[in-house]
Amino acid sequence: MAVLVTGGAGYIGSHMANELIDAGEDVVVLDDLSAGFWWAVPPEATLVQGDAGDQALVARIIREHGVDAVAHFAAKIVVPESVVDPLGYYLNNTVKTRALIETAVRAGVRRFIFSSTAAVYGEPSANPIPEDLPLAPINPYGRSKMMSEWMLRDAGAAHGLGYVILRYFNVAGADPKGRTGQSSPNATHLIKVAAQAALGKRPFMEVFGVDFPTKDGSGVRDYVQVTDLVRAHVAALKHLRAGGESLVCNCGYGSGYSVLEVIDTVKKVSGANFTVKLSPRRAGDPAALTAKADLIREKLHWQPEFDDLETIVQQALAWEERLVRKNAA
Ligand code: UFG
Repeated sequence: MAVLVTGGAGYIGSHMANELIDAGEDVVVLDDLSAGFWWAVPPEATLVQGDAGDQALVARIIREHGVDAVAHFAAKIVVPESVVDPLGYYLNNTVKTRALIETAVRAGVRRFIFSSTAAVYGEPSANPIPEDLPLAPINPYGRSKMMSEWMLRDAGAAHGLGYVILRYFNVAGADPKGRTGQSSPNATHLIKVAAQAALGKRPFMEVFGVDFPTKDGSGVRDYVQVTDLVRAHVAALKHLRAGGESLVCNCGYGSGYSVLEVIDTVKKVSGANFTVKLSPRRAGDPAALTAKADLIREKLHWQPEFDDLETIVQQALAWEERLVRKNAA
């Protein structure tokens, strides 16, 4: 019995692979290494370089490794990039997910855990956002994930595929044991960018928009630590293996921080007073996204351990320093 982790060489997927190995699972990582790194995959896992939409390859992996569950992380994830390359996003995130679901169904896999996103809510009419709010994504990234959710629900109903869809809020931080972290050199995510600015890897950073209807005008997000997030997936796996119902759950802490608050925290924790420029809004960015976070605690008994912005920032800074040493080595 093994778990297939697509995108397992990437940021979140590599944390998942480590968490599964720690839990004593057999893990096969399928990653095309377009954004991930072979060294981020734990040595105990099997790494296959390839495409999650390659049905012959995935069918072979499922057969050869006795895969009983798929955790599907492989995706493109940058909101502004999706605005300029919508068809690339629909191919990678939607079309290939369709192929993967079909392969899983045909091969008799009964459990599927899917990385969705708060971006499916668009500019929500309620904050914190309950899972049953009508979906109204405002960018191609959110729409690419919403369509995958629909396919999974329909395939679940038609073919008896059990699924847990987790809608991530803003994932940040790094493995507390220092094994992996957010490693892409061109990452655009706020805490990563601020950590790079704090370490002098960037001459300055920008705040995209200070005219949002929020507490200080900058965007508000619910930052969830990556180990906590992947533990929700391990809990989802346990739930499905025990015959639990299919679920759609937000994965966030339920509290929001503004961009300016995050930057203040990074300055405080790092002790570095880097340059911050106030810039116009970025395409496709909603003002505020915070999770209503009760369902995941109730259904999956999720108990986060790292629900603290300073801790998340410390981990991000520690990983960024480690990358500096890695690249110098
Ligand atoms: N931001 C800046 N400067 C930067 C980077 C980001 O001001 O250099 C701002 C953004 O405008 C936004 C906030 O910081 O207000 C967070 O932006 P991120 O790029 O870190 O993350 P997003 O909120 O755009 O998107 C992320 C994930 C999505 C997910 C979303 C859900 O990439 O998958 O969180 O909240 F849908």
